[in-house]
Amino acid sequence: MTTSATPRTDPRLLDRLREDLSALPLTVDAVQERLGPLAATALAKERTLPARRLLVAASDPIGVLVGCFGLGLEVAADDLARALPRLGVAGAVELDLVEPHGADVRALCDLRPYGDDLGGAWWVASDPTEHARSGPLPVDHVLGIGGASTTLASWTPRTPVGRALDVGTGSGVQSLHLSRHAQHVVGTDLSGRALDYAAFNAALNGLDWELRRGSFLDPVAGETFDLVVSNPPFVITPRTGGVPRYEYRDGGAAGDDVVAALTKGVGAHLAPGGVAQMLGNWETAGGEDWRDRVGAWVAASGLDAWVVQRDVQDPVEYAELWARDGGHLPGTPEHDALVGAWLDDFASRSIEQIGFGIITMHRPSRERVPFVDLVEASGPVATPMGPTVAAGLVARDRLAGTDDDGVLDTAWRAAPDVTTETHARPGATDPDVIVLRQGGGLGRSVRLDTLDAALVSVCDGELTARQSLVAISGLLDVPTGEALGRGVGLLRGLVADGFLTA
Ligand SMILES: C[S@@+](CC[C@H](N)C(=O)[O-])C[C@H]1O[C@@H](n2cnc3c(N)ncnc32)[C@H](O)[C@@H]1O
Repeated sequence: MTTSATPRTDPRLLDRLREDLSALPLTVDAVQERLGPLAATALAKERTLPARRLLVAASDPIGVLVGCFGLGLEVAADDLARALPRLGVAGAVELDLVEPHGADVRALCDLRPYGDDLGGAWWVASDPTEHARSGPLPVDHVLGIGGASTTLASWTPRTPVGRALDVGTGSGVQSLHLSRHAQHVVGTDLSGRALDYAAFNAALNGLDWELRRGSFLDPVAGETFDLVVSNPPFVITPRTGGVPRYEYRDGGAAGDDVVAALTKGVGAHLAPGGVAQMLGNWETAGGEDWRDRVGAWVAASGLDAWVVQRDVQDPVEYAELWARDGGHLPGTPEHDALVGAWLDDFASRSIEQIGFGIITMHRPSRERVPFVDLVEASGPVATPMGPTVAAGLVARDRLAGTDDDGVLDTAWRAAPDVTTETHARPGATDPDVIVLRQGGGLGRSVRLDTLDAALVSVCDGELTARQSLVAISGLLDVPTGEALGRGVGLLRGLVADGFLTA
């Protein structure tokens, strides 16, 4: 499989392209409107047929650009010329965005608008998707915006920072987000093609990033950052069995070593108060708890860590997912051989489960014992999650520096999204089950006993927890010392998870 050229960064032509895209404007909303809800929803799930049917004979500028650069349709050169009047077809060819094909042109890259809920609006070029080309992807394929990209972008705290690092920047998706709240952005990647796309995207969007080629953290040896983000090539890949080594997903190590090494090593690059936000897969052998495995990695880092496992797959599900990725269709001998290679690899280490999650690490600003919180949350979460992560780090940092007396002597207040649910047998006067639910954030729920529920019910920012617990212990006939001990444990958990604030 041959790989096409990456777009060039001629500033004069890029100015013209930017002017054309701005004039239309080619935005996420404009594309959605052009496609309509049915085709737009299908396209978001990588089902391209409805959009293809709609745009196959389109001649309007948005339709032509989406058809050409989003779907890989051949479009009439004249139509492209009308869609990009300043750049022209000759300029698009010179930038290596398209190649002529008779009276038509076809795209050499994917180019699409992209935005976030915070006002960010960009255009992103990457290699044509699997759906816009025929056959499996080449191993040096440069990814555009995928589900993992948007997950990481959503979970990253958007607190203003000085220096930010994007490890494995690819086409620069995370760096686009970072540019909104970081003064200086450094992106690293092993792939020269990825860095070409990142440079193109930075220039097209009028941004200035420092892009460095090298493996993981090597290009930033001795440097520290206030924020490190990484959607690394975390896919656990057999090292034998003929599995193609896709650069975008495979860091070349055995098992989950890529994520382990990044988790252990990122601390050397975090300034005091700095945060690292990363995605990863981890594998567990029979009887092993993922918390022990990932917990050992974060312990080796010496940093605060908050890891949320979002999903779990068994080896068959994982093998089928990644064998299919890249364009190897189920039912073909090649696909079956790939699944077999994954199953053999997992069997060689007795792996029974593969977890996926988000790793948040933090270097405390002052000397103290690090906090480590490893939780499972597979349900819907807030969008974006960055504010929850930022608030959760502040809460955990505060708790880590507060002794039990400090927790008890604070007047806590229930967060606005917290509700209580009670369940009782018909006719019963007292509830059998009391559950505290969080509407936003991780959407957690916590089962409460009578003492817990009484304490939470008076968390309105007036009484300190100690005052409340002393009164509750008298009402429930529980020794005061026991009530204070139970209360402090509950409070720490609820404060860390954002149920209670000071
Ligand atoms: C999953 S993609 C992430 C791209 C982009 N940051 C995003 O969020 O969509 C992983 C990236 O890591 C890069 N990569 C692969 N091996 C690497 C290595 N050893 N060091 C640095 N980057 C690597 C790939 O080229 C690819 O761009």
